[in-house]
Amino acid sequence: MNFAQLFRKKSIAQIQRDAASGFSDGEGGHGSGLVRTLGTLDLTALGIAAIIGAGIFSTVGTAAFNGGPAVALLFVFTAVACGFSAMCYAEFASMIPVSGSAYTYAYAAFGELVAWIIGWDLLMEYAIGNIAVAISWSDYFTKLVNSTGFLHIPEYFTMDFLSASRGFDAVNKLLAEGQTLQSIAQKPELSNIYDGYLAWTTAPQMGGFHLVCDLPALMITIIITTLVFIGIRESKNASNAMVALKVAIVLFVIILGAFYVKTENWHPFAPNGVSGVLKGISAVFFAYIGFDAVSTTAEECRNPQRDLPRGMIYSLIICTVLYVLISLVLTGMTSYKNLMVGDPMAFVFGPQGANLIWVERIVAVSAVIAIATVLLVFQLGQPRIWMSMSRDGLLPPIFSSIHPRFKTPWFSTIVAGFVVATPSLFLNLTEVTDLTSIGTLFAFVLVSLGILVLEKDKSFERKFRAPYVNSKFIAPVLFLLIMGGLAAYDSGSFFKEIAAAISGGWDLFKHKIPIIVYLFVAFGTVCMCFLRNLSLIPVLGFLSCGYLMTELGITNWTRFLIWLVIGLVLYFLYGSSHSKLGKK
Ligand code: ALA
Repeated sequence: MNFAQLFRKKSIAQIQRDAASGFSDGEGGHGSGLVRTLGTLDLTALGIAAIIGAGIFSTVGTAAFNGGPAVALLFVFTAVACGFSAMCYAEFASMIPVSGSAYTYAYAAFGELVAWIIGWDLLMEYAIGNIAVAISWSDYFTKLVNSTGFLHIPEYFTMDFLSASRGFDAVNKLLAEGQTLQSIAQKPELSNIYDGYLAWTTAPQMGGFHLVCDLPALMITIIITTLVFIGIRESKNASNAMVALKVAIVLFVIILGAFYVKTENWHPFAPNGVSGVLKGISAVFFAYIGFDAVSTTAEECRNPQRDLPRGMIYSLIICTVLYVLISLVLTGMTSYKNLMVGDPMAFVFGPQGANLIWVERIVAVSAVIAIATVLLVFQLGQPRIWMSMSRDGLLPPIFSSIHPRFKTPWFSTIVAGFVVATPSLFLNLTEVTDLTSIGTLFAFVLVSLGILVLEKDKSFERKFRAPYVNSKFIAPVLFLLIMGGLAAYDSGSFFKEIAAAISGGWDLFKHKIPIIVYLFVAFGTVCMCFLRNLSLIPVLGFLSCGYLMTELGITNWTRFLIWLVIGLVLYFLYGSSHSKLGKK
């Protein structure tokens, strides 16, 4: 293998030729494969289908618990960061309107190695993200089924092993402190750990091993995989109908909930300060993931250059408005302290909230449907990226084999089903949400960088361009303002903590590595802005998503880097020697 191959780029002409001939990056959109059925409305719907889901229905509860009502501001900040990246995605999608998403874009902008890395990283976004979504779905589904009173799914079949064992330990600690099991069971803020305790103590045991697993998560993944296997048209129809219901229910919660808001719940606005709010980054960002998945359907669009950017940006704007309103309503209806639950949207209408049991049920039913649509979109997108990679030779050919009757990448679809279904039985929600967020942010960072790299490249025809604003002076001024603000905020605690970590030994220092590296990178970028008049929007996309990554903790970073190393090993074992680039 020669070194230059690693950085060999796919030209736009090559990408388009491959797509047209059905060789690469798609299913041969012109005749042999997919059907072009999607328009702006479908794409916006698909975006909303992917965005509104487990994040807002589920993980936002913990974010609000930590950050209080101020989590609404985090939604705004995160949306702005996503917005910059959305423009870059849109620009790429208009230049390279073939499926494969950031993977294909990276092939054009950075060459094969980075393309592989991002394809591998997208696997983390889609597959691990869907594990999180399946787990959240199971949370709502279980509570719904159990609340009917006819059927009871035993706790040990509704959660992961780690949650159960942690719940068991936490309850035991409280018991040792003198609390009774009955008093713990009655406290809504302890319901999670109590459920874990129940699961652990009632689970069947085999040689001391507690059999705890999430069966509903497995079930929904199998159902969705079957739907995706059958084909895009059916999936699109199912998804449009579900999206309408999803938006309706979110609006319903906002409007009805507004009547039950008690403004005193909004005071204090940020009870745990900035650090409390920032703890919610992973959950809040997770709630926005999905608009990028729209770009994977490029070859199924009637007019991708026009409709893809619109679909992505419209869906992002609509969801931002809904999210900010929802977070204000949730934290206004009940104290943020009660929101540490897996089903916050239903919870606020339950006995501990507005006590409208019928509404609680409606919301729970809708959440079950809403979250399922997210699974659908990601299970749809993931095999298409693998298919693109396989057609480039980076994955074995069977990954791009198309089913003769259903016209779908059948093998990739089944593998995607397994990759999500099996871990969803055992993994913990927070851990998978964190990993998904860091992986996706990395993709956003690379896409923004890609637009910067290709900015002056005239070989691309762009039907959509992120508006050019010269960053020459704006970026340095913004940088200085932010640094000045941090130096002034809380007597400069930001810099003092970094200084303390540097002199405080490895255990302290390791937690600050991401932010220290980031500060250097940000400084370098700002210098480049000054010297090269870079376009402001991709610069801000790069810097804001990069910043969000630094907030995700060293454990996450370590796991993420391990994941990337595994990907690299696979690339050198297979992809690098099978790549078809240059062999045609
Ligand atoms: N944004 C998607 C969700 O919240 C991943 O479920």
